[in-house]
Amino acid sequence: MTNIDQFKKMQFNDKKISVVTCYDFWSAKIIDQSNIDAVLVGDSSAMVMHGFKTTTNATLEMMELHVAAVCRGIKSKFVIADLPFLAHRKGKKWLMDGVDRIIKAGANAIKIEGAGDNIPMISHVVNSGIPVMGHIGLTPQSINQFGGFKVQGKENKASEKLINDAKDLENAGVFAIVLELVPNILAEKITTAINIPTIGIGAGNKTSGQVLVLHDLLGMDNDFNPKFLRKYLDGFSLITEALNKYDSDVKTKIFPSIEESY
Ligand code: KIV
Repeated sequence: MTNIDQFKKMQFNDKKISVVTCYDFWSAKIIDQSNIDAVLVGDSSAMVMHGFKTTTNATLEMMELHVAAVCRGIKSKFVIADLPFLAHRKGKKWLMDGVDRIIKAGANAIKIEGAGDNIPMISHVVNSGIPVMGHIGLTPQSINQFGGFKVQGKENKASEKLINDAKDLENAGVFAIVLELVPNILAEKITTAINIPTIGIGAGNKTSGQVLVLHDLLGMDNDFNPKFLRKYLDGFSLITEALNKYDSDVKTKIFPSIEESY
């Protein structure tokens, strides 16, 4: 089973860390049999699984159900789960109740977006014995403040702020940091400025590892084609083909056959 020591070991040995999102039982069972190092139950579930436009619609109840389903299918991987929109911004009791529910649902670690005045809350979770993964750059829970899914840290001041945010997160005790949608030169600077692994998405190949949304890498959405995404399967076409074949077999009475009948 992957754990936070393995993250450190892989970084130390210059071995890239692979992370993929997962939101349900059946894909968890497949991922569990793969070589992927760790699983993220992202709040992207609000978009991918529930069809919302942003992750701000993710709720604690939603995350709890996805984490529990994933953890029933994952036997051998480290599971990190997002603390959803505002769950860490309504006071310590709310924060810790949320963390408690996600950990009790089966996650091994929590991901919290942002740095700045989130740092004391992140320290509190870490000091409570719970591994925390940071997330900076494009933090989707703040999408309305960013005004869209845009590359972050392009200007000097913004890039310096992100380097300082990464250092603050490291000092707060996070075990790794997701860098989302930042120029690869900045991702490299951040990766060399800190001693914990960086996990990139749209951040080039100088980070300690990569994370992708499972459905994106499987090509499930023909309409989502950002520059950073490599599709490893044409899932949309393959599934449509299979469904149409089933439909045609039903209509032409080829399915079920005698052998498939009792
Ligand atoms: O929610 C999510 O899937 C994420 C990844 C994109 C890093 O935060």
